[in-house]
Amino acid sequence: MEKEYVRCQIEDGIAIVTIDNQAALNALNNQTLTQLDKTFDDLARNPEVKGVIITGAGEKSFVAGADISEFLKVSGAEAPESMGRGQRIFDKIEAFDRPVIAAINGFTLGGGNELAMCCDIRIASENAIFGQPEVNLAIIPGYGGTQRLPRLVGPGKAKEIIFADERINAQEALRIGLVERVVPKGQAVEEARKLLKKILSKGPVAIKMAKKAINDGLKMPLAEGLKWEALCSGVCFSAEDKDEGARAFLEKRPAQFKGK
Ligand code: COA
Repeated sequence: MEKEYVRCQIEDGIAIVTIDNQAALNALNNQTLTQLDKTFDDLARNPEVKGVIITGAGEKSFVAGADISEFLKVSGAEAPESMGRGQRIFDKIEAFDRPVIAAINGFTLGGGNELAMCCDIRIASENAIFGQPEVNLAIIPGYGGTQRLPRLVGPGKAKEIIFADERINAQEALRIGLVERVVPKGQAVEEARKLLKKILSKGPVAIKMAKKAINDGLKMPLAEGLKWEALCSGVCFSAEDKDEGARAFLEKRPAQFKGK
């Protein structure tokens, strides 16, 4: 029977996806990537799921990178497809139409940092350590690290991290914008759950369209992004929830959003 490297638990509309390969500090092997991909396909089809938290099993590691033991099998000719596969899975997580929060609990290296960066928001335990150590193996980040890291922290900081394998602790990650919150050890999932509950109390169509406007807009020049924002606003203004939001405000009562 195939080993289960990705666990998914759904409670009160929140899916907690846990990468669980603790013997290898939750490194992402091929099977883990396949299971992660399938998990997000299943979640996308499940309307009960309103938001997702991704975390790593145990206190020591979020994800310590791609599984290095599999690298010996990958040739130069095969690498673009192999990296492209990881990129497609991480793109799928980034484009997931509901909010996704990374609850980071320890080593967040290589593919682990790349996984965290494709989430909408990152919450780190104070023991988290971030890095892109690929150059130690004479390769470069291949699951999006050379692209998402400079977009988050700027090209100079990204080059420092990638060229020199500079490891970043949680406070420094907060300072440079690699994470949004730092919490005491062991509390990242709880903090992510609290934040997600707050997000889920808002108009669901608005959250979905805000994510689309931000993510798609980041790939566009400003003028195009502004047009896209206006079109995304049109979707919100067409939804039933828009009138409920305004009425609830005027009637001084909590809004009852339907997500329609
Ligand atoms: N791929 C495969 N196995 C990994 C791994 C990875 N990315 N990261 C850790 N492991 C394995 C180790 O080989 C070790 O296995 P073993 O017990 O069978 O020897 C186990 O996880 C525990 O790791 P260990 O190195 O003993 O723990 P540590 O506390 O001394 O060091 C790290 C922790 C994260 C600093 C260290 O494991 C490390 O540098 N990992 C590689 C990180 C990396 O380069 N990631 C990017 C890959 S592109």
